[in-house]
Amino acid sequence: MATNAFQPIQGMSDIAPPDIYIWRMIEERAREVFARYRFDEIRTPALEKNELFTHSLGDTTDVVTKEMYTLEDRGGRKLSLRPEGTAGAIRYVASGGEETAGARVFYMGPMFRCERPQAGRKRQFHQIGVEAVGAPNPLADAEVIALQVHLLAAWGLKGAKVRLNTIGMPEDRTAVLEGLREAIRPRLSELPEEAQQRFETNVLRLLDSKDEAVQKVIADIPPVIEFMSAESRAYLNTVIETLKKLEIDVTVDARLVRGLDYYVHTVWEVVHGGLGAQNALAGGGRYRIHLDKRAVDGVGFAIGVERVIAALEAGGITAAQFAPIPPVFIVSLGDAALSENLMLLQMLRQRGVACEMELSARKVQAQMRRADKTGAQTVIIRGDTELEKGTFVVKNMADGSQREVELPELIKLL
Ligand code: HAM
Repeated sequence: MATNAFQPIQGMSDIAPPDIYIWRMIEERAREVFARYRFDEIRTPALEKNELFTHSLGDTTDVVTKEMYTLEDRGGRKLSLRPEGTAGAIRYVASGGEETAGARVFYMGPMFRCERPQAGRKRQFHQIGVEAVGAPNPLADAEVIALQVHLLAAWGLKGAKVRLNTIGMPEDRTAVLEGLREAIRPRLSELPEEAQQRFETNVLRLLDSKDEAVQKVIADIPPVIEFMSAESRAYLNTVIETLKKLEIDVTVDARLVRGLDYYVHTVWEVVHGGLGAQNALAGGGRYRIHLDKRAVDGVGFAIGVERVIAALEAGGITAAQFAPIPPVFIVSLGDAALSENLMLLQMLRQRGVACEMELSARKVQAQMRRADKTGAQTVIIRGDTELEKGTFVVKNMADGSQREVELPELIKLL
């Protein structure tokens, strides 16, 4: 068998010890923070109808046109692996009928985008996200941003920055797109061909293009907010004022746009200096998603877990710091002790002690080597002599000291 047979497919990773320990810390602390803000967990399927994503994310977005894993099942139905969590969460919430407004959900799980893998960009990655359903309200947007900042702090992350903008109400959209096109049109010939197509299909996305020629043109055009109604501007101002009151630092970035079409009003991104080119830790915003004949309004964010871990590691926080405490290790000398120790092992585990032993009567040295490998701080040694006396030898692995104790003391010790 070629070694490749043991590798997961490109852009996807196994997550195992010791890395898994930092994942668990992240998930546990997220659950604690979400509980304080009264968000409840949902787990939606990884595979959904393709049209759920094309309708809600927008059928000209990169995610939909280039990055989705789409397949046909045996019944000829077109399905896609979820590239993000919002569409599925809103589908679920909307399935509940009229009580939709006020729903507050969070999710954690794998998402799939068939992008070119590179540092910080995976084909299976993980998001932790929230969605708060309800009509546009700048206070709700600020509350969700406050939650996100709280969460990043709970993980011990330093140096994350929130960049904020508005893309206006749906009613502003025509004016915004027209305004942008008018401002760019005189210099259209300076843009590369792909950007010229974007100009027609999704002119907003030109604003965050990494292409130098595009950036040069964009630098000279007015910020999008100038094409918006007074109402949209006031909305953004209230979000900013509220965040100020909550003492949450954000930077308004007039050129910030997002890669998905469902956004209205507030949009934001969290960036971190320790991440290199893929510097977005998280994205969020207010949205309006149309499913069937219903429009669902909400606000939420999703944080990329792999990127959070990279940012934590850049700041010196590592997975090993969250490793579980090592077990107590039991060493048996002889077959009689082996079977008695099996009962001791079970008794200790039932009393809440993490412990482990060698299940074959191997040489003591071999058993001690294994004990050492587990990182055990305490080793219990029992052979025929101890069995007869009803005692246990307890060895402290840190200093090598040993003492002989009876059962009540052993239990107290552990
Ligand atoms: P997004 O900006 O597309 O937003 O993704 C959110 C985060 O997921 C990114 O900031 C990044 O950390 C992570 N991410 C995205 N693609 C990859 C990748 N290929 N590899 C590693 N990490 C990645 C959304 O998905 C929206 N649903 C967020 C949202 C929720 N808006 C409102 N509610």
